[in-house]
Amino acid sequence: MCGIVGYIGENDSKEILLKGLEKLEYRGYDSAGIAVRNGSGITVFKEKGRIADLRAIVEEDVFGTTGIGHTRWATHGKPNRVNAHPHQNGNERFTLVHNGVIENYHHIQRDYLADVPMESDTDTEIIVQLIGKFVEEGMTTEEAFSKTLGLLKGSYAIALLDAEEEETIFVAKNKSPLLVGLGEGFNVVASDAMAMLQVTDKFLELMDKEIVIVRKEGVEILTLEGESINRQPFTAEIDMSDIEKGTYPHYMLKEIDEQPAVMRKIIQAYQDENDKLVIQPEILDALQEADRIHIIAAGTSYHAGLIGKEYLEKMAGIPVEVHVSSEFGYNMPLLSEKPLFIFISQSGETADSRQVLVKIKELGHTSLTITNVAGSTLSREADHTLLLYAGPEIAVASTKAYTAQLAVLSILAAVTAEARGIDLGFNLVQELGIVANAIQAQIDAKEEMEQIASEFLSTTRNCFFIGRVMDYFVGLEGALKLKEISYIQAEGFAGGELKHGTIALIEEGTPVIALATQEAVNLNIRGNVKEVAARGANPCIISMEGLQEAGDSLVLPKVHELLSPLVAVVPLQLISYFAALHRDCDVDKPRNLAKSVTVE
Ligand code: G6P
Repeated sequence: MCGIVGYIGENDSKEILLKGLEKLEYRGYDSAGIAVRNGSGITVFKEKGRIADLRAIVEEDVFGTTGIGHTRWATHGKPNRVNAHPHQNGNERFTLVHNGVIENYHHIQRDYLADVPMESDTDTEIIVQLIGKFVEEGMTTEEAFSKTLGLLKGSYAIALLDAEEEETIFVAKNKSPLLVGLGEGFNVVASDAMAMLQVTDKFLELMDKEIVIVRKEGVEILTLEGESINRQPFTAEIDMSDIEKGTYPHYMLKEIDEQPAVMRKIIQAYQDENDKLVIQPEILDALQEADRIHIIAAGTSYHAGLIGKEYLEKMAGIPVEVHVSSEFGYNMPLLSEKPLFIFISQSGETADSRQVLVKIKELGHTSLTITNVAGSTLSREADHTLLLYAGPEIAVASTKAYTAQLAVLSILAAVTAEARGIDLGFNLVQELGIVANAIQAQIDAKEEMEQIASEFLSTTRNCFFIGRVMDYFVGLEGALKLKEISYIQAEGFAGGELKHGTIALIEEGTPVIALATQEAVNLNIRGNVKEVAARGANPCIISMEGLQEAGDSLVLPKVHELLSPLVAVVPLQLISYFAALHRDCDVDKPRNLAKSVTVE
């Protein structure tokens, strides 16, 4: 959560920082600020709200070739101007931005800063106050920075300016992501390469608990003990056009539309020269050796995991458990002899999932991360990685990453099945091609989804999604999409479970979106629809060719039943999109959420 940028060079830093923050808004957008070294001192601008609100108060005539910036997702203290970053120490010599959570900030305040008045309610302020205090006691800035980092418990990515050291940004990280970008006559700092692609595509990866001294002519990486580290930069392979909206009104719509192309890209990426689906042999070995798989994920990725379980069990015959990552680390089930842990994460940065990875690594278990972001924390720290090839996903509500996760999980299951001598009885490449076309057909029928959104969701306060077998899991994702971006209270249920309690909530006109794509339970789900309709619900049935009945609101083209979630989710994404639009909601940046949740 929260995004950090920094610039040190020869040009005015303000615009570079603001543009960088705009690209990081997906990480949090409740308040923002920049600090610019301006001749004699440091000028801070900060504001509640979006980067656009910050931009409006930044004074044009403040010029500075060094600066840092921050966009916030509040954890400690309300999202207001005072709690916005950058924060400064009492005499304003030091200015700092921070992403993460300092778990022991109360103790630090009590033990070191009892006599220092605090301006904000944040955990961050103690960092800058402590550095200031240590310097007042006689340390150099570097010593104070290093000593302070040694005292912090929790997660952080930090950039620090010292008013008396003009030519330096001090940088460090622990658990939270941070990169240094390299340029000619300038260098930059960013939580994500995307923020600084405007000026460079060369980046240095930073490791936990290093001290990094960024100057315009060079970057020095040191251990906490002061030993110098040599590291080669990498080139970020992201196309600027991938991270622009182009002619689309919202990133979410663009990303929904990209799904057929993503399907084709995944098929290509996982095919060898003979068009055979392949995954790295080490990953295949890990799956073959596992007596049980634990899928660990959060949010939409968790919903993808529920379908991944079906693929791995039904296709490859390996037992799978799926867990919400925020719970698993603190309530671990009894583990089998040889478990394999699969982490599913679009961003590869979700702190809830990372805490599990750290714990299972300590236990000596093997891990595989399925992620969209090469080089992300979960990818670096796991034994193996499978990439999603979905391209950057900017809208907070995940769409193309979800379908990409399902496609990659199906490939993983199919290749493992083959290695185990199991005949699937169908050609997955062909079937995924059919899926890509079926997704395209949904995208081309947007008006129908808009019509459904206005007919069923324009005035309602709540909505239920029901389904059975895999449709149940797709319903969970549909409900998440709808509540995330339209704020309509939406819940997904197994069709047969409604009558055990939730049916009490059905009133005259309550919308119930029912999925009917699974042949074995088609009659059952239709029975469940009758139960709610008899109590006044307004049912919207989305079925699949061959299973449709008169009166269904939408009939999806026929695809292989196991792959139907990849298609069935698309109308739900679009219906949510239009429901949010009708309610004038901020589709790409829904309230209270962030895309990359790097705090537990
Ligand atoms: C946040 C986002 C969700 C996302 C979840 C997991 O809560 O708002 O859209 O599904 O994190 O993120 P991950 O990057 O691990 O898939």
